[in-house]
Amino acid sequence: MSGKNEQNHKHSEHKIINEYKHDFQESTHKPEAGDTRSSFSNRIGFVLAAAGSAVGLGNIWRFPYLAAKYGGGSFLIVYLLLVISFGFTLMVTEIALGRKTGKSAIQAFSMLQHKWGFVGIICAAIPIIITPYYCVIGGWVAKFFVAFVTGQGTASAADGYFNNFIGGTFSPLIWFVIYLALTCVVVLLGVKDGIERASRILMPLLIAFLIGITIYSFTMDGALEGIKFYFTPDLSKFTPALFLAAMGQMFYSMSLAMGIMITYGSYMKKSDHIEASVKQIEWFDTGVAMLAGLMIVPAVFAFSGGDENAVNAGPGMMFVTMPKMFTSMGISGNIVGAIFFLLVLFAALTSSISLLETVVSIFADKLRISRLKACIISFSLTFVLGVPSALGFGKLSMISIGGMSFLDMCDFITNSVLMPIVALLTCIFVGFVIKPSTVISEIETNGIFKRKGLYIVFIKYVAPIMVLAILISSVMNSLGLITL
Ligand code: PHE
Repeated sequence: MSGKNEQNHKHSEHKIINEYKHDFQESTHKPEAGDTRSSFSNRIGFVLAAAGSAVGLGNIWRFPYLAAKYGGGSFLIVYLLLVISFGFTLMVTEIALGRKTGKSAIQAFSMLQHKWGFVGIICAAIPIIITPYYCVIGGWVAKFFVAFVTGQGTASAADGYFNNFIGGTFSPLIWFVIYLALTCVVVLLGVKDGIERASRILMPLLIAFLIGITIYSFTMDGALEGIKFYFTPDLSKFTPALFLAAMGQMFYSMSLAMGIMITYGSYMKKSDHIEASVKQIEWFDTGVAMLAGLMIVPAVFAFSGGDENAVNAGPGMMFVTMPKMFTSMGISGNIVGAIFFLLVLFAALTSSISLLETVVSIFADKLRISRLKACIISFSLTFVLGVPSALGFGKLSMISIGGMSFLDMCDFITNSVLMPIVALLTCIFVGFVIKPSTVISEIETNGIFKRKGLYIVFIKYVAPIMVLAILISSVMNSLGLITL
């Protein structure tokens, strides 16, 4: 490359980074109407930012334990079908609504149709409930990272270590506060652009690590059973509960049905192609989840011989199985474990930052207060709501409904109740109130919309009927009206 070319290249790269930086700072300050809204510098910038929000604990911690609980292959099939149909439809819709209105969820709905503003309000409640318990689990990851860095990997692999830790009084609380503080500092100082740039290196590294550990996990005795289980569908597991869980996981993992993608869309350039971007985000997010499952599930089988309790370990699965696997690597295990938990911590941070940013902007917009005040309210609320989740396995375990801990309850209410409701309302709103053509014309501002036919059928009929059927049957099932 000639010197001049190189300079030009550097210059344009610098420009892109600066615009990107500006965009994120701007996203923390909602511009008033009439302000020109900045946008992502290019499609890659948009895709990376959206993927940073999407790839997180949902993929590495949540997906594998759900896949194991719901019969491996059965869950995978339903999940994949949902992602390419429903997930695609909803993500395209949210991004298009955001770009069209140039607003975040709370204003976008009411701007398009005043009476429908309430959907934006339900959207707003979701990140307020998710952020606290997300930070509790982020704290667990931080704790395990420090355990491995300080050479206590073997101790952390001992039976009962994880349960003792989350059942304690100070420990889970302290780690929750540490993680929350980390997230708050980034949100407050706006050092987000640095984090985003670092994630360009750390995300690929995380994937490389996942692949490496997956290969190792395949070499363990008994892993083959786990691989078979992971891919073979169990017909008896195709229940409404599985469908509900897979749907909730899809919303959660792709950061859908809570208005976040509407906000991201509002910063997307008119010249970018929405459909192509959505396909990239969806494959990236799903790929990481699949890989994480392939890494953990065979290991669970290798260590437990497919024991029911281990397969159904739930939220603790990653924290019980991964330390065992690292310890089995011998002396290098501490290093591998430390790097693994550090990368997971990073992926979690990029997601919790986008969650907390959303909460801050909701308060700043709705209460018309300064950003600093909105930060103080959001941080305090997240702390207060996080305490019962942090202590829900120990001191506050009496707060439970139907055997669910407080953390599980928050997870259930958002993923299995509120998000399906938002998704249903969004489909009805677009399908019958503002009409699919509103979204389609936004997507077709530059190029054709390849899955247009599928989109219309889905948004009007298939998706809403599917959500309703899944919601009703699982409510009836849990009330004991039907047994499935
Ligand atoms: N999608 C993130 C994950 O998989 C969670 C998240 C949801 C982040 C909503 C931001 C907004 O971990």
